Amino acid sequence: MLFTEIIRKKRDGGELSPGEIAYFVDGLADGSIPAEQVSALAMAVFLNSMSAEEASQLTLAMAASGTVLEWQDEGLDGPVVDKHSTGGVGDKVSFLLAPIAAACGCYVPMISGRGLGHTGGTADKVESIPGYNAAPNFELFKKVVKSTGCAIIGQTADLAPADRRLYAIRDVTETVASVPLITASILSKKIAAGLQALVMDVKVGSGAFMSDVEKAEELANSIIATAAKANLDTHALVTDMNECLGHTAGNALEIAEAIDFLKNNQRESRLDEVVMALCAEMLIVSGLESDRDAALSRVDEAVTSGKAAEVFSRMVYELGGPADLSENYKNHLPAASLSKAVYPAVSGYVTSVNAFTMGNAIIELGGGRRTMGDELDLSVGLTDVAPIGASVDRERPLAVIKAASDDAAQLAAAMIREAYKISDSPPAKRPVIYETLVAD
Ligand code: URA
Repeated sequence: MLFTEIIRKKRDGGELSPGEIAYFVDGLADGSIPAEQVSALAMAVFLNSMSAEEASQLTLAMAASGTVLEWQDEGLDGPVVDKHSTGGVGDKVSFLLAPIAAACGCYVPMISGRGLGHTGGTADKVESIPGYNAAPNFELFKKVVKSTGCAIIGQTADLAPADRRLYAIRDVTETVASVPLITASILSKKIAAGLQALVMDVKVGSGAFMSDVEKAEELANSIIATAAKANLDTHALVTDMNECLGHTAGNALEIAEAIDFLKNNQRESRLDEVVMALCAEMLIVSGLESDRDAALSRVDEAVTSGKAAEVFSRMVYELGGPADLSENYKNHLPAASLSKAVYPAVSGYVTSVNAFTMGNAIIELGGGRRTMGDELDLSVGLTDVAPIGASVDRERPLAVIKAASDDAAQLAAAMIREAYKISDSPPAKRPVIYETLVAD
């Protein structure tokens, strides 16, 4: 088979056969198709999309490109369930949700991705914990899931390796925001993780890959329908990503915010709403609860009782991180040398934020990738991020930049000022969760 013929077919709007998709996925996994040809096909798919049948073939082939985990012989006394987000800015939900769901009786083998485009990645964030093994072998991964109820790791070389390579290429070729490519990327990892059920957090807004609710619904329905073909029961929440989720963005800074949340020190309201809703949905999709209010009070109790914080600490320790991370995170997480508050040019209320520009500011600081092999500075980012509706002035900044150099801080400050729109009157309140979608 000539791969150039496959590129041409998709470039001209044709439908790829299962054999052509299998050839592509084999070449992705074994590296025999070079990056430039993979990029060309990714761009052709981005421009011409794929049918539901092609997306499903791509998903199943990528899931089968490496090891597929099985849990039925592990003697677990609860459902194996996970959540996955389509990506955003300041999205530290995974660090909260995995231990909360585990404290409620779920087993959460969370295989997460690296930063993609302007969005941050859970796999990068978790690496800011010193000693934490984000790429354990399957034996250790299963052991930690079994003993603590959850393990958050990055994508290993043997799990959906075809997605691992395609993901890295999409990240730097502006081919991320494609419904079939996102569907296949997410579900291939989730199917390979051997899940019984999944909750999707489909983000919509200026910091998401889907900029309007219709597009987000299209993605959610594509994921639900494709997952059903693999017997993976999936519910999807469409949630707001028009601003940073929580008050920090940047790898280590988000871990610190997650720890504060789990310790009940600071539960930022939008982040709280998203985490509680997603966790409750995990209990529902996995059959642990049938009533949403009961599910919500169970997840809230997991936080207020401190059980979720205990699970998080045990997970970190069993994966090689410090035993006292939760108590002493300031001693363990990397910290940037420079701190610079960015004040608005005029006083007023924040009426909108361009979260895409905020994500790009973090890349400029060194906290995200420009090209495939880039090393990240895990310490940099933003704290005290002013939410939409906040009153800002010469005393209350838009955000505080944590940077490694003055030049990077200046550039990020200009981008943040550009991202914020300020007005004399406060904006109308917007929903944080737009809707919940389940299979028909
Ligand atoms: N998350 C993934 O794992 N893949 C995508 O393509 C987008 C978000």
